Amino acid sequence: MTRLVYLNGKFLPDVEANISIFDRGFLFSDAVYEVTAVIDKKLVSWEGHLKRLRHSLKQLNIDFTKTNDELLFIHKKIIEQNNISEGLVYLQISRGQAERDFAFPVQEVEPTIVLFTQQKKIINNQKILCGAKVVSCPDLRWGRADIKTVQLLYASMMKQKALDQGKDDVWFVKNNFITEGSSSNTFILSKSGTLITNSLSSQILSGITRKSILEYSKNANFIVKEKPFTIEDTKNAREAFSCSSTTFVMPVVEIDEFKIGDGSPGKHTLSLRQLYIDNVRKELV
Ligand code: PDD
Repeated sequence: MTRLVYLNGKFLPDVEANISIFDRGFLFSDAVYEVTAVIDKKLVSWEGHLKRLRHSLKQLNIDFTKTNDELLFIHKKIIEQNNISEGLVYLQISRGQAERDFAFPVQEVEPTIVLFTQQKKIINNQKILCGAKVVSCPDLRWGRADIKTVQLLYASMMKQKALDQGKDDVWFVKNNFITEGSSSNTFILSKSGTLITNSLSSQILSGITRKSILEYSKNANFIVKEKPFTIEDTKNAREAFSCSSTTFVMPVVEIDEFKIGDGSPGKHTLSLRQLYIDNVRKELV
């Protein structure tokens, strides 16, 4: 089946959607994006994604005039047109096309807006059964990880390096502390039973899944702390997991060849995953 994508006001077959080679998203990674999960044909945590999108656009001074209602309409329509029951909607907004210059264009340019869908098994992801193995690596990304830009090359390179070593992902480390995963936030459950995740700063993306997990776990009487933690803390933890819109809660069972807990997905991690799914299901849009 041809995939219908959205480009600057039109729904088109993917092969007909063309963007200028002068688009600043292509030349400078001058673009922001969001990935919103779809389950039961509906959007997960829509309001959170919108809020973060507005933050990213503001930080880059991209003058984007579509309203939240218009964005929701396009998201819903693309899900329907591609018959997505489970998967994701990718949204990207670049500053637009202009003569190549490091400085932002002086004249007004129209931002380029692109959406496409991907079908993906998120709930019955087989990887949950065995959990992910991660390796640590220095966090050499730029210092504004709070802006969701398409400038993802370092994360992509390190993810590939992990796969080449027979592992599943990387956890980035800066000044001895774990910042986040290549495309996820990170949590540990300490032996004393405290759920710990890095505190928000410009060094990490403010994950929408992270935020929901913090809320749901507090309601379920977990002791929760937002503070930095190290590789050593992770090795000594009872359980660990990463979280994102495309994996929800993903058990992490090994770091740097060292087994976490008994080396299988932790029971609290799995119950948090279920708690997350049950709760977001009530708030689908
Ligand atoms: N990435 N940290 C980074 C660096 C990420 O790229 C992501 C998500 C997250 C988790 O954020 P959220 O819970 O809002 O999805 C944290 C998406 C899934 C991606 O780039 O495909």
